[in-house]
Amino acid sequence: MMPADTALMRMSAVPVSDVAHSAAAVHIWMVRPDGGDMGLLSDAERERVARIASPTQRKRLIARRTAIRRILAALVGTDPAEPILERRCERCGRHHPVPLPQTGGTPLFWSSSSAADLLVVATGVRQLGVDVEPVDRTGAWAAVARRYFTTPEVAAIGPSAWRFADFWTLKEALLKAQGVGVLGGLDRLCCTTLGRDTGGWLATPDHPQWKLRRLTVAPGIACALAVDAPPDVPGALVETMWFTIPGREASCPPHSGPGADR
Ligand SMILES: CC(C)(COP(=O)(O)OP(=O)(O)OC[C@H]1O[C@@H](n2cnc3c(N)ncnc32)[C@H](O)[C@@H]1OP(=O)(O)O)[C@@H](O)C(=O)NCCC(=O)NCCS
Ligand SMILES: [Zn+2]
Repeated sequence: MMPADTALMRMSAVPVSDVAHSAAAVHIWMVRPDGGDMGLLSDAERERVARIASPTQRKRLIARRTAIRRILAALVGTDPAEPILERRCERCGRHHPVPLPQTGGTPLFWSSSSAADLLVVATGVRQLGVDVEPVDRTGAWAAVARRYFTTPEVAAIGPSAWRFADFWTLKEALLKAQGVGVLGGLDRLCCTTLGRDTGGWLATPDHPQWKLRRLTVAPGIACALAVDAPPDVPGALVETMWFTIPGREASCPPHSGPGADR
């Protein structure tokens, strides 16, 4: 297994179907979806598309769902139109990701997040959540931080829009991994309690079952990943790699350094 930090920087055009998910792996798929195929979408996805008034947003949703379907179907070895990706949530009535059955019995967990035309999909054999958030240069984030973040977090953020986006993605990644979304409470994770674990992962005594890490995806965009990895599972067991959809050029290569103002 390659060290996590080296793995983070790896960009490969390995065909999706060549990627076998082991207990050790979380894979990060970074895509700029262009176009899409309505024919691959489920009835629920089509209904969702039909409810969107903006043609741009409609196109984005179709492209996003098509890309997610292509990645996940290749991983589990089915046709992209086939997998049931989501289930209606009893709490909020929307559809949320469900794990996909795989040959061999271990389900494939997935989570996605998008910002503008960047889509990030995380896959693995443990419950996980991924979130991306553009750094907000308008300053509007400060009121959100004061309203929803803990006092130590507000102090740690200070005037940094980047740090706000960083904390936001860490919180949302965990909330998605736990399947509760923002309704689970932005104060569920206090980011100032996060300390270094193994292999670049972060751990907090408040959620000993989970590990988090920051990912570098594109300039001006914060990204975080949360994985169900209890203390007896070494963080290094979770390996992160970058892939593109086969046949496509890597359109948004990860850069090797942190964001300019991080
Ligand atoms: C929906 C939410 C989790 C992420 O929204 P966001 O940051 O605007 O958008 P992102 O691109 O980062 O993530 C969206 C993806 O999160 C996933 N998602 C939505 N709700 C989720 C949940 N409760 N748990 C896990 N994943 C969820 C979906 O796959 C969605 O993808 P889609 O838009 O292609 O359908 C968050 O905004 C939210 O929780 N909003 C309030 C509504 C809410 O709390 N819903 C859940 C209640 S159970
Ligand atoms: Zn819900």
